[in-house]
Amino acid sequence: MVTAKAHSNFALIKYWGKREEVLNLPAVGSISITLQEIFTISSLMFDKSLAQDMIEINGKAASPQEAQRVSSFIDLFRRLGKITAAVKVISRNNFPTGAGLASSASAFASLALAANQAANLNLTSSKLSELARMGSGSAARSIFGGFVEMKIGKRSDGSDSIAVPIAGKEFWDMHVLIAITSEKQKEIGSTVGMKMTAATSPYYPQWINTNQSDLKEMRHAIQNKDFEKLGELSELSCLKMHAVALSANPGLIYWNSATIDCMHAIRNLRKQNIPVYFTIDAGPQVKAICLKGDIPVIQAELKKIRGVKRIISSALGPDASILEDQL
Ligand code: DP6
Repeated sequence: MVTAKAHSNFALIKYWGKREEVLNLPAVGSISITLQEIFTISSLMFDKSLAQDMIEINGKAASPQEAQRVSSFIDLFRRLGKITAAVKVISRNNFPTGAGLASSASAFASLALAANQAANLNLTSSKLSELARMGSGSAARSIFGGFVEMKIGKRSDGSDSIAVPIAGKEFWDMHVLIAITSEKQKEIGSTVGMKMTAATSPYYPQWINTNQSDLKEMRHAIQNKDFEKLGELSELSCLKMHAVALSANPGLIYWNSATIDCMHAIRNLRKQNIPVYFTIDAGPQVKAICLKGDIPVIQAELKKIRGVKRIISSALGPDASILEDQL
């Protein structure tokens, strides 16, 4: 059994839209940070004695859809390693299921590392990022720690649609507070939401057109450690992504009232000269991006908001890695 750990990430410049669905090629580049406190650990082995793949997620047999998605992903590695055996997978998130936190990024990145080792493939991190992308676009970024950029790429085979590290987690002492405002499973996941947006939003072309300049500015903000710029760009990309999703037909509303209250609370803190900025993915949780020294005051403000169930606090996390102990 091979065991790997990958940390979750969230985007400062958002990925929303695909240019090709089979290889899961993104229509926009994205820039993310990897999180220390939220991760998936997956153990995996190929076993000829198994009649079929056995997939356990968070202590339970995977649902037929989940099992299908994981088996197809492992097929990529079986093909490369000329392996015909079935696989046994045990995958566990360190955060409760239904916490409304995306797990596909850390899940597929951890599976990529474990499958690479179990199939003796010796693939590079770039190749693993390319393969992880086929599990889930955001998973390509979870191969690396710290600040990461996902490239759109140009090639039709997807070999340059990969994530590349921008700076390690030690580069900048940034911190994230995640306000959990709902534990319910979201109704429309990212994959479907993106498709609906691309097909129906009149603003989608503009979303695509402004991506390159957003990426460029964010790269500079990171390189210059310009926190204000980084924060402003994060809010802009988040609101732009939600604006384009809201303008799909039917419009996609991922927020609840506590989500909006958190956004206002974060902007009010800024009026009191506390540098904190929000970002929100395809769900109702709010991520407050801040510097380490300001954590207590921001946490106290977010806790006061009705509908905030709990707050997860995290520093930046490392590259995905192989662990010695198995699950
Ligand atoms: C809003 O990576 O979950 O979190 O490639 O279809 O699996 P698929 O989508 P996924 O989308 C993430 C969307 C987002 C923004 C982001 O993480 O960049």
